Amino acid sequence: MRKKITIIGAGNVGATAAHWAVVRGLGDVVLLDVMEGIPQGKALDLWQSGPVDGFSGRVFGTNDYKDTAGSDVVIITAGLARKPGMSRDDLLAKNVAIVKSCAEEAARQSPGCVMIVVTNPIDAMVYTAFKVSGLPGNRVIGMAGVLDSARYRTFLAEAIGVAPKDVNALVMGIHGDNMLPLVRLANVAGVPVTELLSAEKIKEIVKRTQQGGMEIVNHLKTGSAFYTPGLSAIEMAEAILTDSKRVLPCAAYLEGEFGIAGCFLGVPVVLGNGGVERILEFTLTADEKAALELSVVAVKKQMAATGL
Ligand code: LAC
Repeated sequence: MRKKITIIGAGNVGATAAHWAVVRGLGDVVLLDVMEGIPQGKALDLWQSGPVDGFSGRVFGTNDYKDTAGSDVVIITAGLARKPGMSRDDLLAKNVAIVKSCAEEAARQSPGCVMIVVTNPIDAMVYTAFKVSGLPGNRVIGMAGVLDSARYRTFLAEAIGVAPKDVNALVMGIHGDNMLPLVRLANVAGVPVTELLSAEKIKEIVKRTQQGGMEIVNHLKTGSAFYTPGLSAIEMAEAILTDSKRVLPCAAYLEGEFGIAGCFLGVPVVLGNGGVERILEFTLTADEKAALELSVVAVKKQMAATGL
């Protein structure tokens, strides 16, 4: 039987995710939004590209959660996006109410699902979804690390002059200014980037990565990034639906890993049918630990602000 993927929020991120989900042949897609007509129209348009692209998946738009029943993966993208001058934290109060209702309703219809949360501020929104959905921690996951690491890899690849896919680099921690693009472990097909670029250039790339979201917001002015956020969520969904055990950086519920407990934060995880099947813990240097601690402080502040 075909897998069922529900995407909540038919804005730019949700529609882009729906596009990649069917093109990659992940299954049938339900696109849900509170706006009447938008999910129906976008879904119909996308579904009709099947004969041209060659996919067989059904794309269905709705305003009714009943249509999402029995989903294998639920992706929450609903919420307001950033405008210039806004931090991800500025969105918190408004988006916590939205994510709360989405997560509750979706979990009621699909108690066996793995839930991926994309709405910002991601680390607090995934915590919100976990608290209200009743789903176990390993089946509620935040999308951020795939996006942030993709930005880091793109900038490194350009500076070194190599194919982006040959750059392996990990961004850990919060999806915010305190995120931690790891320099020590970044490499091109096994060759450390510290051997290929000056310390000054790497520093510049780390900073550009940390501010990667805002760079795009400043260009767009009316919203934030959606191509790579949408695809990143589908990269995670594919790993889950195909039980591939891919290792991707995700905001996972930590229970003592890296010395952190009781919050969601970006770490490398093994993804499979069960959601987060394992967190790949490793020893951080004192500097990396201190940098990650900044993320912990920031995320705990956001969690307190959710009132949950
Ligand atoms: C970004 C937004 C989606 O990083 O947080 O582009």
